[in-house]
Amino acid sequence: MRMIVLGAAAGGGLPQWNCGCPNCRDARDPASPLPPQTQSSIAVSADSQHWALLNASPDLRMQLERTPALHPRKLRDSPVEAVLLTNSDVDHIAGLLTLREGHPFRLITTPIQGEILAANPVFRVLDPAIVHRETVALDQTFMLAPGLEARIFAVPGKVPLYLEEGEPELGGENEQTVGVELSCHGKRAFYIPGCAALPPGLLARLAGADALLFDGTLFTEDEMIESGTGRKTSRRMGHMPMDGPGGSLAALATLAIGRKVYIHINNTNPVWRDGPERRKVEEARFEIGHDGMEIVI
Ligand code: MLT
Ligand code: MN
Ligand code: ZN
Repeated sequence: MRMIVLGAAAGGGLPQWNCGCPNCRDARDPASPLPPQTQSSIAVSADSQHWALLNASPDLRMQLERTPALHPRKLRDSPVEAVLLTNSDVDHIAGLLTLREGHPFRLITTPIQGEILAANPVFRVLDPAIVHRETVALDQTFMLAPGLEARIFAVPGKVPLYLEEGEPELGGENEQTVGVELSCHGKRAFYIPGCAALPPGLLARLAGADALLFDGTLFTEDEMIESGTGRKTSRRMGHMPMDGPGGSLAALATLAIGRKVYIHINNTNPVWRDGPERRKVEEARFEIGHDGMEIVI
């Protein structure tokens, strides 16, 4: 199985257009060691011929162009055969609008994610005669691409920001936010870019995986507040922080997993640069995802 990180950053990307935080400033500076990172998506394939996208980011056009494996092989063609969503956030659906030029693919969602897309007429640019919308139930195995099985499962999350009314329910486990299990030739990988908590059942599911690509949005619970970039805690955003008592570093520390890679990393996250936070993550044997990273298992 081959996984290519198309975009390792969270919504907004690095740099984010309206952010002057130290990471965003560095990412704008060609002389700095921190290259820009695009928004959340990966591509996956069992045979390097047939590819599925997991999430479609606003940066998808650029991501496809700079990834040779995803280029057309003849006139009007694409190796992208499926797009699967893990939630309906803008950073995961806006790229669908980039895929409107008459290329057939399967658009795979949960029923509620499908309803959210159907309720927004702009997605009618994906002609239903060409783009086949498929809903899949939680915990059912299906073929995502030739030789590549997938299963989606609920993870703690919340409704998309643009559907929040007042204070949303936090940490609900339902069809709004899912993780993806990928299986091929006896190897198992998980892709979970948004996750508000790791309850025991979810940890048990992840145990023994060959690779885990996991929500690395924020380092600390109060990062947005402390950095002066926002008012919400990590949990209020639907993401568990890396550090701290309820963080993913502690929760995943003892789990036997081949490779642990943080993805969906917010531009404010100190792990983007060398420092104690990055060292702590690396000492815990986590890798920091980056655009173009390839994981082969
Ligand atoms: C998130 O991951 O929290 C969302 O992408 C936020 C957003 O929609 O901007
Ligand atoms: Mn996001
Ligand atoms: Zn920033």
